[in-house]
Order: sequence, then structure tokens, then C-alpha cells
Amino acid sequence: MAKTPLTKIIKFYIRFTPSYSAIGYHIRSIFWKNRPNNFQGQTWLVTGGSEGIGAAAARQGAEGGAHVICVARDAGKLKAFSKSVRSQTPISYLTADFSRTADVHALLAQIRQSGERFDVLIDNVGIQKHQPVITDEGLETSFVTNILSHHLLVKTLLEEKILKDDATVIEVSSGGMYNHRMVPEDLNITDATRYLGSRAYGLAKRAQVMVMSYWREKHAHLNQKFYAMHPGWVDTASVNRSMPRFVALLKRVLRDHEKGADTIVYLARERPSQKRDEAIWFDRKERNPHIYAHTPDSSVHPQDVVNKLNSFLTPPAH
Ligand SMILES: NC(=O)c1ccc[n+]([C@@H]2O[C@H](COP(=O)([O-])OP(=O)(O)OC[C@H]3O[C@@H](n4cnc5c(N)ncnc54)[C@H](OP(=O)(O)O)[C@@H]3O)[C@@H](O)[C@H]2O)c1
Repeated sequence: MAKTPLTKIIKFYIRFTPSYSAIGYHIRSIFWKNRPNNFQGQTWLVTGGSEGIGAAAARQGAEGGAHVICVARDAGKLKAFSKSVRSQTPISYLTADFSRTADVHALLAQIRQSGERFDVLIDNVGIQKHQPVITDEGLETSFVTNILSHHLLVKTLLEEKILKDDATVIEVSSGGMYNHRMVPEDLNITDATRYLGSRAYGLAKRAQVMVMSYWREKHAHLNQKFYAMHPGWVDTASVNRSMPRFVALLKRVLRDHEKGADTIVYLARERPSQKRDEAIWFDRKERNPHIYAHTPDSSVHPQDVVNKLNSFLTPPAH
């Protein structure tokens, strides 16, 4: 694989560090008007809600009065997190591994049985791999974890009206999508010779933005809101694991978890209207999902991405 030239790396950090680090957050937040969070009476579902950005959003939702249900793989970590939050209604939790659609079907079965309906859904689980790891369902792990499982969740919750008619859906995407033009055929690359972890991640993250655009148009007759956002650069466990050199370089200016979750909580609270068909929210503002000339492609539509995702979905095994 060709090495990225040093000048390109330097240009990248000069361009993005002031904005995506805590520096950008501090400067922008001077101009924000902060209203208190009031989520009384709401029910939230947060994927990847036991640590990092998802946990910070879940905590603020619960402290604002919502009944929050967090989903992750490790029940012990979920339990410890739930106990650490002092809220009127304790945080509940369910386990599922988002790298397996069978697990998402099982999660959906539990949700149906509970009779819960959701005001806010935060699709936050996200991972980056260096090599393709193929799941027992024959799919590439980061593709399923980052987009396919979330698509299955949103689609089913909408179809079964478990998401209320005035629900808010928030996809936690990433600035990692900016460098990648959407090629739906490449969302699930299982061949190691064609696989690049950052591209698999970037395509899934761009797909999150496009899928939100699809649902916004399809459900325009309802008062539902669909957003994709990115949190900036946040000092979390997964970033420490997957990008140790990046963390070593920028540790002192990375955002903390609350700053990473700020735009998620803002969107849940304010439900702002979105002007663009396709946008990514960052630091409480709607932004262009394309910053490089090579990524827009007028021949690829949100419907194409949804069709591709649907082609990987199979009915639950009974
Ligand atoms: N941190 C950043 O700088 C940054 C930048 C841009 C975008 N993002 C995005 O922000 C989101 C959150 O990232 P983070 O940095 O906060 O991650 P994190 O701190 O590593 O938290 C990950 C959460 O997801 C859960 N999780 C991981 N794999 C899972 C799986 N297969 N199934 C179910 N749950 C799983 C973890 O719990 P278990 O391990 O128990 O499952 C944990 O609750 C991701 O979508 C990421 O792409 C982060």
C-alpha cells in the first residue's frame, strides 16, 4: 500500500486541528445560547451507550429526565455505567453485538416485547478495522457494525412505529467520510487485497448521512427528524486503540466525551430544521457533507445506498 506523503499529513493537521479539537469547540461555544435539557417523559435508545461519546449522550439524556436504554456487548460495563449515573429514572440496558444482524433481530424482539416506544434514537456504535474480519454471517465486520445494523434498526423501528411520529433519529458519523466518494458496491469489501480500513469506515460513515437523507424525504409527512452528525476529535477508548499515534500527537487538545456528545444532545433538545437534503451537523451547525471536489457524485442517490443495504438483510431466523 502506498504511503501518505508527509506534506499531505502536515496539511491535514493544519487544516483540521483548530476546528475538530477542543480549540474549535471552545471558540464556537462562546456564541452558543444554552438552554437546559428537558427530556421529561421521553424514552431514548442509545447504541454503544456504555462508554465514550454514546455514554456521555446517554448520561445527559437521563439527567434531563429521559428514560434511557443503552445497548452494547458487555453487560458488566453497561451495569457499571448505569450505576454511575444519578438520574430520576435509572438507565436501563440491553446487550447486542452490532457486528451481527442476528443480534439486532434479537434486540428488536426484546424491544417489541417490552412495549417501549422511542422519542430519540442515537445510532452511535462505530469501529475501524485495519484488516477485513469476516463475521459468521459472511459480511465485513465494520460494514455491519457501522451501518448495516443501524439501518436494520432504524428501518424496523420506523416500519413497526416503535419510533414515535415525532421521534428524532441521530446517526453518529465521522469526519472520516470526507475523503470518500460513495460507491455502494464497495460498502461490504471482504477481499483483503481490496480492503482499506479507513475507506470501509469512511464509506459506512457517508452511508449514515445518505440514509438519513433517505428517511427525511420518505417521512416528510411526519414530524420526525433525521440527522447525521460528527463529534470532532474525542479522546475515547476506541480512538486510543485504533489510532494511538494520532492520540499521542494531539492528546492535550482532544475533546472530552461531553464535548463529543454536545451536538447529539443539542439536536435531541432543539430539533432544528435542516436546509440541505444531505448534511452533516458539527458543533451545532448544519454543514456541507462534501469538502473535497472528488467526492460529490450526482449519479448515486440515497435510494441506491438503501437498496444496497437492503440487499444484505435477511429475515430473522426462528
Ligand atoms: N472518538 C472520536 O474522535 C470520534 C471521531 C469521529 C467519529 N466518532 C464516532 O463516534 C462514535 C462513538 O465512538 P467512541 O469513540 O465514543 O467509541 P468508544 O469510546 O470506543 O465506545 C464504543 C461503545 O460502543 C460499544 N460497542 C463497540 N463495539 C460494539 C459492537 N460490536 N456492538 C455493540 N456495541 C459495541 C462499546 O461497548 P462494548 O465494547 O461493551 O460493546 C461502547 O459502549 C463512533 O460511531 C465513532 O465512529 C468518534
